[in-house]
Amino acid sequence: MESQLQQIREEGLTEIAAASSLAALDSVRVKMLGRAGSISLLSQSMKDVAKENRPRFGKLLNELREEVTSSLEKRVAALNAETDQVLLSSLDFTLPGTCPELGAVHPLTRLLNRAVEVFRRMGFVLAEGPDIETEWHCFDALNTPADHPARNEQDTFYLPDGRLLRTHTSTIQTRVMESQIPPIRVIGPGAAYRRDEVDATHLAQFNQLEGLYVAPDVTLADLKGTVSFFFCELFGSGTELRFRPHFFPFTEPSYEIDIRTQALGNRWMELAGCGMVDPAVFEAVSARRGDRAYDPELISGFAFGFGLDRLAMNLTSIPDIRMLVENDMRFLSQFR
Ligand code: DAH
Repeated sequence: MESQLQQIREEGLTEIAAASSLAALDSVRVKMLGRAGSISLLSQSMKDVAKENRPRFGKLLNELREEVTSSLEKRVAALNAETDQVLLSSLDFTLPGTCPELGAVHPLTRLLNRAVEVFRRMGFVLAEGPDIETEWHCFDALNTPADHPARNEQDTFYLPDGRLLRTHTSTIQTRVMESQIPPIRVIGPGAAYRRDEVDATHLAQFNQLEGLYVAPDVTLADLKGTVSFFFCELFGSGTELRFRPHFFPFTEPSYEIDIRTQALGNRWMELAGCGMVDPAVFEAVSARRGDRAYDPELISGFAFGFGLDRLAMNLTSIPDIRMLVENDMRFLSQFR
């Protein structure tokens, strides 16, 4: 019996040492420790052993089982280490790694963020409105009568239900005055839409930034001061501004603002529209609200609006405005 045990031990340990894969090792384990394995069979023959020898034999059997089990575990660890070694030796640590692509802020967003930051410092808060608007919010409330050319079907995207894609962010003025009482100091960035032929300087969907300030005794001096401060912060203190009389239905008097600055090639550029809110706008809003919070005898205000796309285009010296919306990585990656 003891010699049998010795034989199983020697053969087993030799096979474990020789096993060259985890699968081979597992079949050695089954052959020895499995239900019909050699060690299990040996323990079944315990009943044939003389009573006085059983404790000693039982002890030897246990020792054998433990020795085999620990040899199996050690061999598993050794085989795994060998596999790791093979994997590692085939790795080339001198190969260049994969560099993660770093994103960047889009030039339009960067310009908008800077603009918002400057207006925030002057106490303006952000406002918004829907892209799909009623004719009232886009035109009627802004003193733009039904026969005004801006309302022409050729100029505007109308929906079958009579609503339209807003042609300017001035709708945000109407929305704010409809729902809030003075004093109002807001800027409203957003998309605007026109039936423009898309070319190097025109998009049918573009971006504007609107501003509105309504309070008792707001004057043209406030408008000029605010807008001048803004553009000088944006482009540097050497920036020159020109307020050129113009016409907008919703402001009186109205101006276009021209800018000359190094950042824009030192030539005059028309950048924005502005003016003092027309009393007719306050009256339209008052009729809608049913109160006198916007009584033009008691309050006044200024408004302005300008396009962000063309400004971003000139600031980054790109030749075609469409580059701003094409999401071409070859173009965008230069702004990292
Ligand atoms: N809404 C005008 C446009 O799209 C820009 C504008 C002009 C906005 C004068 C204003 C303003 O608020 O007062 O051309």
